[in-house]
Amino acid sequence: MENKVFFEWSDAMSVGITEIDEQHKTLVDILNRLFHAVVQRESNEITIEILDTLVDYTKTHFGLEEKLLQDAGYNPTEFAAHQREHRAFVEKISHAASKHLVEGKSVSFEIINFLKHWLQDHILVTDKKYADALKDAGYCTKAWTGFASTAMAAKQEATPKRKQWWKVW
Ligand SMILES: [Fe+2]
Repeated sequence: MENKVFFEWSDAMSVGITEIDEQHKTLVDILNRLFHAVVQRESNEITIEILDTLVDYTKTHFGLEEKLLQDAGYNPTEFAAHQREHRAFVEKISHAASKHLVEGKSVSFEIINFLKHWLQDHILVTDKKYADALKDAGYCTKAWTGFASTAMAAKQEATPKRKQWWKVW
């Protein structure tokens, strides 16, 4: 029980686009870090920093994913629905973060579980849907992968202190 990982990545979650998979794995890592902080009753400061990273990284990831879909000419109705899901999730985590920050409310297991299941379902259903559509349309993600790596590297360089720090615990 002690060593059980809260949110375990599985190959079934792969969308077949390396850069996207890597970003999803990072989101899984951050959620595991948040879970660990809550279980260990770590300081408010640490929890806020993790929440901050979660909001920040999620926004960047969603932004890149949406750019990929637009570049690939993804179906506009599907795109709009996908973007709505992204916005709802960002709102949920931003709300949890501000509740913690402003009202001093601790992050509940209920919210962490919600985030875990939301992300899992979103990847398994909504993200896989666009990955399949892109594949069927013959869109090559290779050029985009280079763009996404550069964008993520530039972001990490701009915030060196945070460079994958959440993986350390
Ligand atoms: Fe998505």
